[in-house]
Amino acid sequence: MALPVVAIVGATGAVGVELLECLEQRDFPLSELRLLASARSAGKTMTFKGKEITIQALDENSFDGVNIALFSAGGSISKVYGPIAVKAGAVVVDNSSAFRQDPNVPLVVPEVNPEAVKQHQGIIANPNCSTIIALVPLWPLHVKNRITRFIAATYQAASGAGAAAMEELREGTRAYLEGKPFTPTVLPHPYAFNLFSHNAKVDPANGYNEEEMKMVKETWKIFGDADIRISATCVRVPVLRAHSEALTVEFERPITPAEVKDILATAPGVRIVDDVEKNYFPMPVDASGQGDILVGRIRQDISDPSGRSIQLFVAGDQLLKGAALNAVQIAELL
Ligand code: A2P
Repeated sequence: MALPVVAIVGATGAVGVELLECLEQRDFPLSELRLLASARSAGKTMTFKGKEITIQALDENSFDGVNIALFSAGGSISKVYGPIAVKAGAVVVDNSSAFRQDPNVPLVVPEVNPEAVKQHQGIIANPNCSTIIALVPLWPLHVKNRITRFIAATYQAASGAGAAAMEELREGTRAYLEGKPFTPTVLPHPYAFNLFSHNAKVDPANGYNEEEMKMVKETWKIFGDADIRISATCVRVPVLRAHSEALTVEFERPITPAEVKDILATAPGVRIVDDVEKNYFPMPVDASGQGDILVGRIRQDISDPSGRSIQLFVAGDQLLKGAALNAVQIAELL
């Protein structure tokens, strides 16, 4: 079979750059890589495997001859151009939330539900980053002892809001240290030496923001189990690119930290970082730039005398496993 032509939509963005890097590092088999972005970037070049590729402005004809299109340019671009790419014959792996709840679109974490890829009708959705980072370690536990409920508190990096938000964190921190005034324009609040409730829209009906509800609904879809009771509080912290999460997880039957460690020791995509003596646990600096979800603080939840609850602290690179790496793994399944 001829090697596929692959396109990256949003190649210049925070995730786009990592998509390019993942394709190169994993030696993804392809015959041509097409880089697409806005007209602002057209004509600029990016390097792939030592060769310069000229970025093209995205338009209706961008997908002629493309077999796999990796989208990461925001939901509105995916909604317009995703169907155009499918019509041109491409399979779309979409990083936005545009199609995630569409019943005809598989929502895939390769360590959890790789077989769902087969059901695609042209579009496969890449889940929300906080959801992926929680589910990679939770799935192998769920398989052994069904999770009935979990509560997440997230500590989310700037990268989830794109390259401009990362730059705003850098600039805002510099200004703060120099005692200069700084007005944020990308995120709604001052970011340096601060944290704030996730900038996604809050639903006045239940008080949850969209990021929190993504964790709830996407978990149901990926696990194929809408009876799991889930609640989340999502917060942005002044970290550049890796998300952390505190997870309180309740199982059907009693479970011990030793059992959890045993299961996670061989789980794909998971690395246990749980050195109690050295007080060394998952940290964004260690999670950044690599593909595993780091899991630690593995302990019995002392607030549940039934012995069915476990506390975990996890960290994963939002740009890699939370986005680009997961998308490239989906493309590999194709
Ligand atoms: P560009 O760099 O040309 O603006 P991020 O998630 O880091 O904010 O990146 C968003 C990505 O989406 C960038 O690659 C950006 O390209 C791309 N993008 C934004 N608007 C458009 C558009 N109208 N058409 C194509 N690509 C777009």
